Amino acid sequence: MKALTWHGKGDIRCESVPDPRIEDGRDAIIKVTACAICGSDLHIYGGIIPGMEHGDVLGHETMGEVVEVGSANKSLKVGDRVVVPFTIACGECFFCKRGYFSGCERSNPNKGAAEKMWGYSPAGLFGYSHTLGGYAGGQAEYLRVPFADAGPIKVPDGLTDEQVLFLSDIFPTGYMAAEFCNIQPGDTIAIWGCGPVGQMAIRSAFMLGAEQVIAIDTVPERLAMASAAGALTLDFLDEDIYDRIRDLTNGRGADACIDAVGTEAEPRSSAYAMIDRIKTATFMGTDRPHVLRQAIQCCRNFGTVSIVGVYGGFLDKIPMGSAINRGLTFRMAQTPVQHYLPKLLERIEKGEIDPSFVITHTASLEDGPDLYKTFRDKADGCIKVVLKP
Ligand SMILES: NC(=O)c1ccc[n+]([C@@H]2O[C@H](COP(=O)([O-])OP(=O)(O)OC[C@H]3O[C@@H](n4cnc5c(N)ncnc54)[C@H](O)[C@@H]3O)[C@@H](O)[C@H]2O)c1
Ligand SMILES: [Zn+2]
Ligand SMILES: [Zn+2]
Repeated sequence: MKALTWHGKGDIRCESVPDPRIEDGRDAIIKVTACAICGSDLHIYGGIIPGMEHGDVLGHETMGEVVEVGSANKSLKVGDRVVVPFTIACGECFFCKRGYFSGCERSNPNKGAAEKMWGYSPAGLFGYSHTLGGYAGGQAEYLRVPFADAGPIKVPDGLTDEQVLFLSDIFPTGYMAAEFCNIQPGDTIAIWGCGPVGQMAIRSAFMLGAEQVIAIDTVPERLAMASAAGALTLDFLDEDIYDRIRDLTNGRGADACIDAVGTEAEPRSSAYAMIDRIKTATFMGTDRPHVLRQAIQCCRNFGTVSIVGVYGGFLDKIPMGSAINRGLTFRMAQTPVQHYLPKLLERIEKGEIDPSFVITHTASLEDGPDLYKTFRDKADGCIKVVLKP
């Protein structure tokens, strides 16, 4: 089959790889009908995710049609149409039972590597390094889905692939980011990053009752999309973000701040952001946490900082003095997607949101390598890419 494979920093290819096979009774194989490129894939493309090997198949936002099921799998049958969560979870362990699917303790066969870095291992992920399981991803014609009787959600025929595909990751992620804020009537939520995740967070914050959403980025079409959803937009290259948020919140700060940027904040964001860039390039630092620092400073006393932008290692110069003295709450996670699927599918079915609004580019798998570059460079108005194998 054809698949998108990783061959080093900036080198992604569409090439032939062996077809996946059933390896466990609970598995299913799906024929991929749509998959997408995520901001998290850009960290792999940029060469900053450890544990990648030449030829690894990428992709963790995937849906398709079941073409084969393992003998122990009683919940799926050939022909079912399913969306696959990016987090691989057994559905039965200590964490899965509590709804913390992205903490599943049975889905990462390479736990040791993750434990060395992070103390304990999270769940395995599709197409996201050997540290997180070494699972082949779904930017491919076929995908093996482990624990397929627990993870994937069946979707009704009335909905298009474009409407439901983002249940695999960015819609639950943006929704969780907003849910973490515990939004009360009258609240102002400030959101850094108007990429696909930020866009889902903006709409989710309004769905959950935010009165004012302040959206921060610098890319004109991303700010325009945020504005179309009702957000007040700020350009971090033109405006002083702290001063503007202070003005917009009666001098008090935002009730909650969402970091939907993560470790690759734009180096031009500030002098510190540029220093972070130099430190990571010279192996003196692991991350570029400009946005997290700013989100903490801009949050009101006893407010919440909700982090969904991904960080990898040990972050420097985080203003913990500000956080402890002012009683901030931190919430963060790789999204336990399975926990959110039923209620978010219901919201789509009821027409409360149509996540396809974010798609700007639809193409074939062969166009994938070029579109990774387009998406990374924010060229050609690109906000979200969907590939149809
Ligand atoms: N927690 C999870 O489960 C989860 C799931 C999906 C994605 N993610 C992460 O979420 C993040 C965003 O993903 P995406 O797909 O939207 O990516 P993206 O790269 O398209 O979007 C990031 C946006 O941040 C903007 N940005 C850069 N510096 C900024 C600054 N100083 N202030 C404000 N905005 C700034 C960029 O211009 C860009 O529009 C990534 O780190 C990704 O890894 C996390
Ligand atoms: Zn993702
Ligand atoms: Zn589990």
